[in-house]
Amino acid sequence: MEDIGSGVCEMQLKGVSDVMDLLQIDVDTDVEDRPGRQHAAYSKNVLRKQRNWERQLAAKKSKRREEKQKKKLNREQDSGASTGNPQFTKRVMKAITKERLAEAQSTGLKLCVDLSMTDSMSDKEVSRLAGQLRRLYGSNKKATRPFHLFLTDLREDSRLYRECIRMNDGFLNYTMDITEESCLDLFPPEAVVYLTPDAEEALETVDADKVYILGGLVDESIQKKLSFTRARELSVLTARLPIDEYMVKKNNTKNFHSKILAINQVFDILLTFCNTGSWTEALQEWFPQGKGFIVEPDEAPPLLVSPAQT
Ligand SMILES: C[S@@+](CC[C@H](N)C(=O)[O-])C[C@H]1O[C@@H](n2cnc3c(N)ncnc32)[C@H](O)[C@@H]1O
Repeated sequence: MEDIGSGVCEMQLKGVSDVMDLLQIDVDTDVEDRPGRQHAAYSKNVLRKQRNWERQLAAKKSKRREEKQKKKLNREQDSGASTGNPQFTKRVMKAITKERLAEAQSTGLKLCVDLSMTDSMSDKEVSRLAGQLRRLYGSNKKATRPFHLFLTDLREDSRLYRECIRMNDGFLNYTMDITEESCLDLFPPEAVVYLTPDAEEALETVDADKVYILGGLVDESIQKKLSFTRARELSVLTARLPIDEYMVKKNNTKNFHSKILAINQVFDILLTFCNTGSWTEALQEWFPQGKGFIVEPDEAPPLLVSPAQT
């Protein structure tokens, strides 16, 4: 049965194909092979590609134009060609900063970072301290009246020294005094005020006759009273930032309140205080929000009551 069936089928197919041949009908349905349509599709493709290419070219050209414009602007700023602009050029700013820092080396307020306690610090803490020293120096560079800075007890064979060179570009050219000597090798003990969060007395002002010391410590693994103990050993005065005097605790979910800041944060507060004469302003601007304190809001002014109401 099967054989007979397939034979019939074959015969039928042959018959259909013969008829098709006679009528010259192309049974292949792939339109791409038809010359007219093929050409149209090909042209569409070429057109699409050409349009894409033109778009890309235009984008490249406009990008190049923008870059040229940017470079021109930079060149103008650097050379001071845009004199109508009151902004200082980068070159002028650099020269002013250099001059200010040089001036501070002879007449500026003095601040030391005491780096004698780094041996007990972890590698991570040493790296963080190197970063804080970079930030502290950066703030001093931006200041209108920079401090004369000293890094004391910084041994050339120490981890911190290596880390400062590794992490801080141009560290050895920083305009500050970097020395292996201790602060008391440089200054008389009666001139020294060691800043420590554990001091009894609050710092009231920053005095040109004094030298202020910051403890080169990072509180990853909080070691209490280290800088206070160091100050005691040196028999020098101590002072804390006047946080209790100007700030109040702020409610927070973790009930976290800390008065211990990083050295660069303390330094920013001192710089602003020296500039403005206002602890309120200095603490408001620089005291980190996450420490759980806010500057005490001013008392509300008394209500003015007009005579008619009395
Ligand atoms: C991270 S703190 C070190 C805290 C450390 N537990 C200690 O023994 O002082 C680094 C330095 O910043 C200064 N400092 C931080 N908070 C201060 C504050 N509230 N008042 C005064 N100095 C502060 C101190 O000189 C301190 O040694």
